[in-house]
Amino acid sequence: MCSLEYFRDFDLESMDITLKFRQQEYGDVNCVVWDAALVLAKYLETLYVKQYTFFVSKRVLELGAGLGCVGITAACFGGDVILTDLSQNLQQLQCNIDENKLHIKGNAKADALKWGNKLQAEPFDILLMADCIYYIEVIEDLVKTMVDSTTPETLILISQEIRDTDKQKTSWEMFTNTLIKYFTISYIPEDEQHPIYRSSDILLINAKKKCL
Ligand SMILES: C[S@@+](CC[C@H](N)C(=O)[O-])C[C@H]1O[C@@H](n2cnc3c(N)ncnc32)[C@H](O)[C@@H]1O
Repeated sequence: MCSLEYFRDFDLESMDITLKFRQQEYGDVNCVVWDAALVLAKYLETLYVKQYTFFVSKRVLELGAGLGCVGITAACFGGDVILTDLSQNLQQLQCNIDENKLHIKGNAKADALKWGNKLQAEPFDILLMADCIYYIEVIEDLVKTMVDSTTPETLILISQEIRDTDKQKTSWEMFTNTLIKYFTISYIPEDEQHPIYRSSDILLINAKKKCL
């Protein structure tokens, strides 16, 4: 039983479909689809439009999936996606996968993954995460999961809204400092992002694991 309040519609014009996400009026950070997820999901659509087979049969991991906008979008484009979050948030995530299952051309599966742990032995082709950097206590653990889940061939896309709080700025600085020990990073310029779903306060990063 999903005790959720209202829908957020999200159009994927390239497929002529509208995804629906069940949001809650009140709750924890996973109760809505965040803007950084919309920016990343729409960036995935730009990749799909450039090459319609881009996601087909790719093994995709989403970390901190929340309501699953990013991972479900990748699954609509043909990806074989595991959407992960804390175990207490999986019911809500599963509700949203079920809500959109008619549009999913690949696979979408919800699984519990607390950062610091690893999901499976085989690394992923694509790793996605949106708006996951907001408290410093988990950053080492999050980067560990990223390292353990990827190879130098993995495409890693990270979107993050930079909010005007000291906590957020410190978290972002600590995250990028930790990240660059293991990954080379580049910022995707706004003119390469979706023409509407982009914003100067949402960063989009492409990361590659270093061969250490
Ligand atoms: C701000 S929300 C972003 C949700 C979604 N990616 C979006 O942008 O709409 C951050 C997500 O990270 C998850 N999260 C926070 N700490 C976590 C941890 N230690 N391990 C796994 N997931 C975590 C939260 O449960 C939440 O769903």
